Amino acid sequence: MKPTTTPKTYRVKSFGCQMNVYDGERMGELLEAQGITPAPEGEDADLVVLNTCHIREKATEKVYSDIGRLVKAGEEAGRKPMIAVAGCVAQAEGEEIMARAPAVGMVVGPQAYHRLGDMVKDAAAGRRSTDTDMPEDAKFAALPARRKVAASAFLTVQEGCDKFCTYCVVPYTRGAEISRPYSDLLREAEKLVEAGARELTLLGQNVNAWSGADDKGRVVGFDGLIRALAELPGLHRIRYTTSHPNDMTDGLIAAHGEIAKLMPYLHLPVQSGSDRVLKAMNRSHTAESYLKLLDRFRAVRPDIALSGDFIVGFPGETEAEFAETLALVNEVKYAAAFSFKYSPRPGTPAASMDGQIAPEVMDERLQRLQAALNRHQLAFNEASVGKTCTVLIERKGKHPGQWLGKSPWLQSVFFEGDCAMGDLVEVELVQAGPNSLAGQLVTKVPA
Ligand code: SAH
Ligand code: SF4
Ligand code: F3S
Repeated sequence: MKPTTTPKTYRVKSFGCQMNVYDGERMGELLEAQGITPAPEGEDADLVVLNTCHIREKATEKVYSDIGRLVKAGEEAGRKPMIAVAGCVAQAEGEEIMARAPAVGMVVGPQAYHRLGDMVKDAAAGRRSTDTDMPEDAKFAALPARRKVAASAFLTVQEGCDKFCTYCVVPYTRGAEISRPYSDLLREAEKLVEAGARELTLLGQNVNAWSGADDKGRVVGFDGLIRALAELPGLHRIRYTTSHPNDMTDGLIAAHGEIAKLMPYLHLPVQSGSDRVLKAMNRSHTAESYLKLLDRFRAVRPDIALSGDFIVGFPGETEAEFAETLALVNEVKYAAAFSFKYSPRPGTPAASMDGQIAPEVMDERLQRLQAALNRHQLAFNEASVGKTCTVLIERKGKHPGQWLGKSPWLQSVFFEGDCAMGDLVEVELVQAGPNSLAGQLVTKVPA
């Protein structure tokens, strides 16, 4: 078997949230700046970065089995791939991974991956290394500039979480809440637009907790950042995710009524419709305060599409409390949603609470919840039929001449026409399915 040498090709496999996807892109750019190129589709890479997620169970087991698979594929091909473990499992279990998996050359946490290049050099020289430090905002300054990006690009503006919901690992894996500086973000946004982005999705574990100071030193909230970004001429659409009910401001709500580039879509997780469960989750909002917030968004932007996250089977959740979640869902009528079975995470308070719910009860509740959520999603899509809206083309469809893009309400829209990737076009929505809509091209919108 060939000894480890400096890798020529890489592949980053990102799991979990969009912030991990963003980090994965930036790790790729960093490796490319060192002359390591993306491995061609279908070929093994010399360096594989497993950019992991720790949010729900089996995360760690999955990492070990991915490592095992890479080692086996390498053995069959007579080579030894260099393996890096990054992301939230790396942060939480770095030492153990190093001890248990000798094939892993480096472990690098989400706040330390700007050091990946040096770590690759070390690994090539036979030195394994771990870096799970959390220096405040150090990595962004040390990363290479953005070059080529898709029409819809991510921009991480805020990281970390101080909320400590009792079920969640994020405050431990991502650290305390920090906001990236205003001027850095405007500069990166400009670069992204120059590199081809027409839509930016601003990312943060609690993105609406972002705050900063503008170039005149005035304090600005998240809505101020959005207003500044909306001034960028080549940028057509702005989205953001994930926001927290407790960080919502009057300014951000008002922005939805005033800024045309801010898309009519809000992902606002609620987790449960039961105040008792919300309290046990340490969410510090009630079902009613959440519903009132949504009303305020609807008042300024009546067509806003709403989305949320839900957990079923939190310890102690009774059938009646679960029914309150269903009632909330039926009241809000979400356009989209993510729903999960509660998963006990090591080190979190909820993992040792009394009243852990049996798996079959969780399965049954999740099915009922998803049936309701799917019904509302289909109804939302059906209600869009007949509308003409702008679609941003993100990729080619399966059939020749077919394109796939997103409506302002984040629905996937398929249609045919003489178009190109990144075009903004007017499409009439003609047919609705649960997960997408079929459309007919009306006209190309002038850029
Ligand atoms: N910061 C965001 C969510 C980040 S995690 C927020 O608070 O809104 C994404 C989602 O994963 C959460 O909203 C929650 O629904 C889910 N989640 C987090 N921890 C979980 C756990 N232990 N079990 C099941 N779902 C979980
Ligand atoms: Fe996790 Fe709660 Fe923080 Fe969201 S707000 S990342 S669910 S602790
Ligand atoms: Fe997963 Fe970490 Fe994101 S745990 S959801 S990758 S913040």
